[in-house]
Amino acid sequence: MTEPHKLRMGMVGGGPGAFIGPVHRIAAELDGKIELVAGAFSQSPERSREAGMRFRLDPARAYADYRQMIEAESKRADGVDFVAIVAPNHMHLPVALAALESGIAVMSDKPAAASYEEALELQAAVAKSGLLYGLTHTYAGYAMVREARALCATGKLGTIRKVAVEYMQGWLSGPLESTGHKQAVWRTDPALSGAGGAIGDIGTHAFHLIEYISGLKVTAMNATLRTVVPGRRLDDDCNAFLRMNNGAEGSLACSQIAAGEMNELRVRVYGEKGSLEWRHQDPNRLIVRWLDGPEQIHHASMSYLSAEARAVARTPAGHPEGYLEAFAVLYREFADALLTWKQGRANSPPATLPGIEAGVRGMRFIERAIESHRIAGWVEF
Ligand SMILES: NC(=O)c1ccc[n+]([C@@H]2O[C@H](COP(=O)([O-])OP(=O)(O)OC[C@H]3O[C@@H](n4cnc5c(N)ncnc54)[C@H](O)[C@@H]3O)[C@@H](O)[C@H]2O)c1
Repeated sequence: MTEPHKLRMGMVGGGPGAFIGPVHRIAAELDGKIELVAGAFSQSPERSREAGMRFRLDPARAYADYRQMIEAESKRADGVDFVAIVAPNHMHLPVALAALESGIAVMSDKPAAASYEEALELQAAVAKSGLLYGLTHTYAGYAMVREARALCATGKLGTIRKVAVEYMQGWLSGPLESTGHKQAVWRTDPALSGAGGAIGDIGTHAFHLIEYISGLKVTAMNATLRTVVPGRRLDDDCNAFLRMNNGAEGSLACSQIAAGEMNELRVRVYGEKGSLEWRHQDPNRLIVRWLDGPEQIHHASMSYLSAEARAVARTPAGHPEGYLEAFAVLYREFADALLTWKQGRANSPPATLPGIEAGVRGMRFIERAIESHRIAGWVEF
């Protein structure tokens, strides 16, 4: 049975001047399975209306706030099928709870909430609702990240003994927040960002990615947090040692004061027979190195790749895909899972789509990093 209409998306956040809202809109609509029909795009009702006009929405569906949107949309026969949450972190829990309580599925940006306790509350609400919850840990949508994950799962690298993940940005090297810069202001305000600064904003991505690719879980961590820019209220730099559930050890570094870096995310996994390396700046290639063989470069969309990597490729080899397509992979998986659920079948999203479990682990990572820093030592997960 096919769904007679596209899945209807309502968006919270993503108004004029926003960073990630436009990315979600493009990604959600890329495969023709989803359309934006409603939104509460800003904390300012006027700006929300203005955004609705710009997106050619029915003016009645550009709402003054998210509560109004969820209330009105849940009464409409053609109301939204899911809510995309792209507002700052402190809005993630209240919006997700309101949607789930009204029977509406959720696709949220990370981190899942503003604290670990909030994430647990959200996890309980997701379980109680039986509804789909997706979390846009973007990098999980890259074909070569899927290839790396599939390669680790085959065991060909041998027992994994060391992992390393780095996420370096330089855009907060100075007190940008004091200039009123939209994205810097809320990210450095604990009331809007939560307890994590760089660790919440990009550390959660790094943490998710190392578990996602290696298939291992972090069991203990020893982290140092710093606030390098004077007057800043949250961390902007972190170095952490990791211990994994198979005995492997490794490191996670993230920074927003790494001057000159744009978005340098790099993952390495070392097994006893070989290793892999993926860099976000070169996302269509995966480097695989062997102890007893030559270095290999796996290219996106090639026929020799794993089924998992081939399943998410859209363009032929040599036609590079990037950030928007990776995001769209997560939306496509979310849409397919939601359609399955709407057709009366089980709510069983694919394991490749990050969900509430990843959200809770990400918030636990922030909480544990802060605790480890406080006691200046190792903490169990
Ligand atoms: N997955 C990723 O790679 C990625 C990248 C960037 C940001 N993010 C996440 O996306 C979220 C937004 O980040 P951003 O950089 O786009 O922020 P932003 O400041 O650029 O945009 C936030 C938007 O939310 C709106 N907003 C604020 N309060 C609101 C409210 N109460 N109701 C409705 N709208 C409201 C703002 O007006 C703005 O339009 C954050 O949680 C961030 O962590 C994820």
